[in-house]
Amino acid sequence: MGRSSWVAVSVLATISILVTLTAQAYPPGVGILAKNRSCVSCHPNNGPWADEAHTIIDILDATTKQSLEGADGVFVIEVSRGQTRTVQTVIGRSREDTVKPPQRNAWLYIDTTQLATSSLSKFAPGWEVNLPMSCRVVGDEVSAFEGAHLTSLPMTILPTGAARDAELELQALLTAGESVKNKAAEGLISNYFVRKVRLKVIDP
Ligand code: HEC
Repeated sequence: MGRSSWVAVSVLATISILVTLTAQAYPPGVGILAKNRSCVSCHPNNGPWADEAHTIIDILDATTKQSLEGADGVFVIEVSRGQTRTVQTVIGRSREDTVKPPQRNAWLYIDTTQLATSSLSKFAPGWEVNLPMSCRVVGDEVSAFEGAHLTSLPMTILPTGAARDAELELQALLTAGESVKNKAAEGLISNYFVRKVRLKVIDP
């Protein structure tokens, strides 16, 4: 092999190691629901954060920081075809909460019509997404929710030529404790929340 092919091989090897590490950094269940309908197929709803009153689940426009929640409680994300839009997922508990806050929150955006398909991506077909899931330690600051106990990350999406309007679920688990290998019902305590998200593609 010539020098340039060795460089190519080692670059490829580095990339695949990075991809593997990144994949392992996520809790295995978050991205891979397999044939399960949602997180509560495996995880119990047994934490102290079950009430909606102190729970914060929001999706903001990453630039304006405005909530994308409609009057009916459904989040609407409109994007021009071929363009990117970045939203910010915010998950946690309000400042006024009297119970000890969760330690780690995890969430997943999923088009449930894709669950039964063999498609690797369970996001809406035709839509590209950089980070449809995450698991994160509580402690992010979001100015709209000062003093709250939150996790927050941006997600960028792009409707390609094949994209249609679609409906997603934002499935979220507020958690604390240490999970036990292969035992979703031991160690970790969790509460499950779900929100509807409508994706709309705008054609010029
Ligand atoms: C098929 C069963 C299954 C489903 C569905 C599932 N999980 Fe899990 N999850 C597990 C198991 C088992 C563990 C324990 C850790 C392990 O086995 O590696 C776990 C662990 C976790 C942890 C703790 C990871 C850590 O580092 O301590 C989080 C957070 C989590 N899951 C979030 C989710 C979320 C959010 C969903 C839904 C979007 C979900 N899980 C769906 C089985 C599942």
